[in-house]
Amino acid sequence: MTIKKEKSYGKLASESYGIWFPENPEGYEDTAFYRQFIQDKGEPALELGCGDGRLLVPFVCEGLDVSGVDLSPHMLDICRAKAKAKGVSPHLYQQGMQALDLPQKYKTVFIPYGSFMLVSDLNDAQATLKGAYQHLQKNGTLIIPLFLPYLHDIHIEAPQENIWRIRREGMRNQDGALVKCWEKAHYDFTQQLEIAEFRLEVFKDGELIESDEENMRLRWYTQEQFREMLAEAGFAQITCRKGYSALPAEEKDSEFTFIAKKLST
Ligand SMILES: C[S@@+](CC[C@H](N)C(=O)[O-])C[C@H]1O[C@@H](n2cnc3c(N)ncnc32)[C@H](O)[C@@H]1O
Repeated sequence: MTIKKEKSYGKLASESYGIWFPENPEGYEDTAFYRQFIQDKGEPALELGCGDGRLLVPFVCEGLDVSGVDLSPHMLDICRAKAKAKGVSPHLYQQGMQALDLPQKYKTVFIPYGSFMLVSDLNDAQATLKGAYQHLQKNGTLIIPLFLPYLHDIHIEAPQENIWRIRREGMRNQDGALVKCWEKAHYDFTQQLEIAEFRLEVFKDGELIESDEENMRLRWYTQEQFREMLAEAGFAQITCRKGYSALPAEEKDSEFTFIAKKLST
């Protein structure tokens, strides 16, 4: 099988992100969770894979000192524009989280919404944890939510079928066009990888006016595997919670969040 070169969060996908996750004054299911962490564990905070600023922009508007890193220039352009419209200008860096190189250290580093899993190469994933460690201050905290995609995604009923399904659809604000996102995925249980392709289609008055294709690989981990990786990167006081709750994770959970500390300088 030929593996396509990964292409994700191009222009159309980045512009469409705000259709799936529009500005939400109530916050999303993870908003209060990260806000509380930043307030408890301290600022400055750094969001890796900050995307279009779904979390970062509201946090900065609330007065929290949060900077962002993302690989996609398109996502960062949108994030910057959203911030500017609100009269704030957070530090945003275009970098891969696996090769982090920033001019300061943080008290809190967080990688929301499974973005860590997009670093699908194992060596890069370990380098991401090491980089996060190096960019934390003494007693700083790292927060990473993970999930088991084959127990979680739209393909859950037939994890190895590899057929196209509608992942999301919605109306684009500026021109009322209908945007559809199709997804085809299968799961490699030996490699612990979800291998997915996406097709984005934009329809105006029933006519296809724009389209794009993307693909990505998402690596999943057992709780035990991830605990070991965090320890190898130098982290201590490693705990794992059930989803975004305060409860400890159980082995059967398909969504869990790791919290780990850097004790040295
Ligand atoms: C699912 S979005 C999450 C965006 C945002 N954190 C949120 O919660 O809405 C994943 C983001 O991770 C970014 N990303 C993927 N791989 C990355 C990498 N290696 N380094 C930095 N950012 C990456 C993508 O460009 C995208 O903006």
